[in-house]
Amino acid sequence: LNAAAVVPAAGRGERLGPGAPKALRELGGVPILVHAVRALARSRAVGLVVVAAPPDGVAEVAALLADHGLPGKDVRVVAGGPTRQDSVRLGLAAVPEDVPVVLVHDAARPLVPVEVVDAVVAAVRAGAEAVVPAVPLADTVKRVEPHSDGTPEPVLDTPERSSLRAVQTPQGFRREVLAAVHQRAVTEESAGALPPVTDDAGLVERFGGHVVVVPGHEEAFKVTRPLDLVLAEAVLARRRA
Ligand code: C5P
Repeated sequence: LNAAAVVPAAGRGERLGPGAPKALRELGGVPILVHAVRALARSRAVGLVVVAAPPDGVAEVAALLADHGLPGKDVRVVAGGPTRQDSVRLGLAAVPEDVPVVLVHDAARPLVPVEVVDAVVAAVRAGAEAVVPAVPLADTVKRVEPHSDGTPEPVLDTPERSSLRAVQTPQGFRREVLAAVHQRAVTEESAGALPPVTDDAGLVERFGGHVVVVPGHEEAFKVTRPLDLVLAEAVLARRRA
């Protein structure tokens, strides 16, 4: 066993609209979370998957994953926390100390191709401490002064698009690096010194580590809004055809 994957799946998914927690919504008749766990398990490098479930849904999620059996893989379910970062930290605590490579993969990215998973693991094995899959942006991006009252937001500047990447998961880490940055984040947060960080590699950057990018894939998109469900169903139908 040389790589483990932690899957934060404790989010409500409110941007998707009302209903069950996002990870339990179905895609092609199978829960999004099951797709995500299967996508990781397809990689020969991944021997263990730890799912961080909603705290009140641990038994339900464990039963669901058992129903959809993943032969040859160790799948464990732990209680997640109030933020994604908490869920990752709690999941990581369930990964044995001797596993050298840890992936963190959003349950909300059910269709990530195995080639992306393998490329991330390979880059960590080749010596990187933190690896993110990423894709170029289709849209031009502008930085604005955010207004919460609906009035037009002034544009501050336009970063050059060719140097921007949209970052996906699984993100891969040397285990001790991921554990150290999450530990440090807890300490700095309690001191009120940590601005919001939206991905695990962001913590590595914040604390002075090196992060590298490997090619991501358009099918590794995050199911966030209702339209993403339509797209995900279409991708799945195309794969099954
Ligand atoms: O909300 P967002 O789409 O950024 O969530 C990304 C991933 O983090 C999802 O898989 C979600 O289930 C997970 N998450 C979590 N615990 C939370 C919030 C989000 O595991 N408290």
